[in-house]
Amino acid sequence: MIEPSGLDAGAAAGQAVVRADRGCVIWMTGLPSAGKSTIAETLAPALKARGERVELLDGDVVRENLSKGLGFSKEDRDINIRRIGFVAELLARNGVKVITAAISPYRSVRDEVRELVGDHFLEVYISTPLDVCEDRDVKGLYAKARSGALKGFTGIDDPYEPPLNPEIEIATQGETPEESAARIIDVLEARGYLDVP
Ligand code: ADX
Repeated sequence: MIEPSGLDAGAAAGQAVVRADRGCVIWMTGLPSAGKSTIAETLAPALKARGERVELLDGDVVRENLSKGLGFSKEDRDINIRRIGFVAELLARNGVKVITAAISPYRSVRDEVRELVGDHFLEVYISTPLDVCEDRDVKGLYAKARSGALKGFTGIDDPYEPPLNPEIEIATQGETPEESAARIIDVLEARGYLDVP
């Protein structure tokens, strides 16, 4: 079924025209505990409330199904990111606003996905500094990494390569997830992916 929101002027003339051109990939990247999932989970319902078709591809969730069995070597992380990028592109080309929330620590594979998606790729760097992420330690994994119980943890003994030219940068300190989501929505409006209310 085509949602009314997926129709444009053509629908008024009796044709079902999907606004496939308004799909995009909102690619969050940042350290563990930076706030990627929290912002994504705030942004997704806000977009749905505006009648958009939205899909959220969260790193933790993807690793339970699409990427089940993959580990955290550079090779496995790159495979994980390519899979997320592949699915994101399929959805975006069909007009879906896709939000991804994976650490995606390596610049080169993020740029590969940027190439695949083309113009509709918006890289959102959640730039919460390491000390703040480590203080939050949402899942207690920084503590495990510091104690040596967990090897190869991003930010501690595994690299994180920040984007050089992200479309959006969000420093989460002193900002609520709602404010961060609103800033992303502002950019989507400015770029024509959303109507300005
Ligand atoms: S990515 O590097 O491939 O983009 P992804 O976002 O899917 O990572 O998964 C990161 C999640 O896996 C973290 O939120 C954390 O809960 C868990 N995790 C387990 N081991 C590691 C590790 N060595 N480095 C980073 N995250 C890890």
